[in-house]
Amino acid sequence: MTKPEIVTSIADLRARVGKWRADGARIGLVPTMGALHDGHLSLVRETGSVCRKVVVSIFVNPAQFAPHEDFDRYPRNLEDDTAKLASTGKADLIFAPTVREMYPAGFATRLEVAGPSAGLETDFRPHFFSGVATVVSKLLIAAMPDYTIFGEKDYQQLLVIRRMVADLALPIEIAGAAILRGSDGLAMSSRNAYLKPDERIIAGRMNLILKETAMRLKHGDPINMAEAFASAALLEAGFSSIDYAAVRDAETLQPISDLSRPARILAAAKIGTTRLIDNMAV
Ligand code: PAJ
Repeated sequence: MTKPEIVTSIADLRARVGKWRADGARIGLVPTMGALHDGHLSLVRETGSVCRKVVVSIFVNPAQFAPHEDFDRYPRNLEDDTAKLASTGKADLIFAPTVREMYPAGFATRLEVAGPSAGLETDFRPHFFSGVATVVSKLLIAAMPDYTIFGEKDYQQLLVIRRMVADLALPIEIAGAAILRGSDGLAMSSRNAYLKPDERIIAGRMNLILKETAMRLKHGDPINMAEAFASAALLEAGFSSIDYAAVRDAETLQPISDLSRPARILAAAKIGTTRLIDNMAV
């Protein structure tokens, strides 16, 4: 399998994409922070099925990490990532910029998206979505793809980016991709690499608890009782602290009092120092 080419500058990215565009190719961009797993690769395959050319960005974005978070120890391995992307046969180009390339000296712009960013992740990571919005807008403007894709694994992020792209009137189609899970149901995540074997077993219980909570809601449990059940069950399963376990409107993420509209259950919890998130439709 031929290896995708790696470019590190926005100028080189624009030059490659510009050529493809002149050839009339539909171009897709898959933004990632690397440490690629099958969840990421499923996004690449999906993009490859609807676009002739696929760019994958790999950039651990400092703007979305708080000082106490795991920016320094976030796993980085461009060689492994390149081999995994080559194995899909769908990735044409890797954009792997340095921090200086994305945030040159004097960089002073930050994007704020309100609406779906309110609550949930923002209550625990207040700068997270503005960091994501800033980097994703910059990646989209640099690559100017026709199509881009985000996983439902980060459900609130997907809604924030949809809002941002609509508000900025960027002519880019946004797809949402289903969550890829391990055999025990644990959503694949680069951060799963932090889990020790005993923690990995606890982590696998989160998905079962969300399923059970969704079932209880379908059988008529009131929303506040179902949320309380989910939090208690996560603690019981061995999670050390619960950031949230909430049932929300699937489109706006606003709190709801009944299931008359599509709903989503979303949870974030820690095992030791590792923070995991998951969600599912109700
Ligand atoms: P990262 O965590 O690397 O995820 C990149 C993309 O892969 C995101 O759209 C995420 O939702 C998706 N993804 C992760 N795990 C998945 C799984 N198990 N199944 C399906 N899709 C999955 O999310 C980010 O990076 C960053 O915030 C980014 C958008 C790149 C901005 O820096």
